[in-house]
Amino acid sequence: MNKEHAQLDELWLNVLQAYEDIEKAVKASELLDEYKKMLLLHMKLEDDYLFPRISLHLGFEDDAPLIARARDDHKILLKLLALTEEAFLEQNIEKTLVAGNNFKQASIKHHERESEIQYPVSDKFISEEEWQEILKSIY
Ligand SMILES: [Fe+2]
Ligand SMILES: [Fe+2]
Repeated sequence: MNKEHAQLDELWLNVLQAYEDIEKAVKASELLDEYKKMLLLHMKLEDDYLFPRISLHLGFEDDAPLIARARDDHKILLKLLALTEEAFLEQNIEKTLVAGNNFKQASIKHHERESEIQYPVSDKFISEEEWQEILKSIY
């Protein structure tokens, strides 16, 4: 999962780079589609599978507080991504870059939090084999 974060971060930098160059508008929208697909799958895996498992493990029927926080992060990220996309469709490059950089910062923070808080918890009780099964069912 940390590897996937690194891939997402790198792909987003490519999106931002393509945004900076008006000639690369087609490339930018292709990269954005690729990014969105990967992000939505990653979030689905966390929201539908990983987060409920962690909450249950910690003894919560509903979301544990640390999970509620991560879910809020996801909502904010999707909002920032939509703002970026909107600005791009309006062909407002300046606004696109501001929104895209806000997204970048929020995403980096979120990944840091997951790798320091949520992932280490799940690492303690989800085995490598179970992970492989989960990944197979999603991807
Ligand atoms: Fe996440
Ligand atoms: Fe994640």
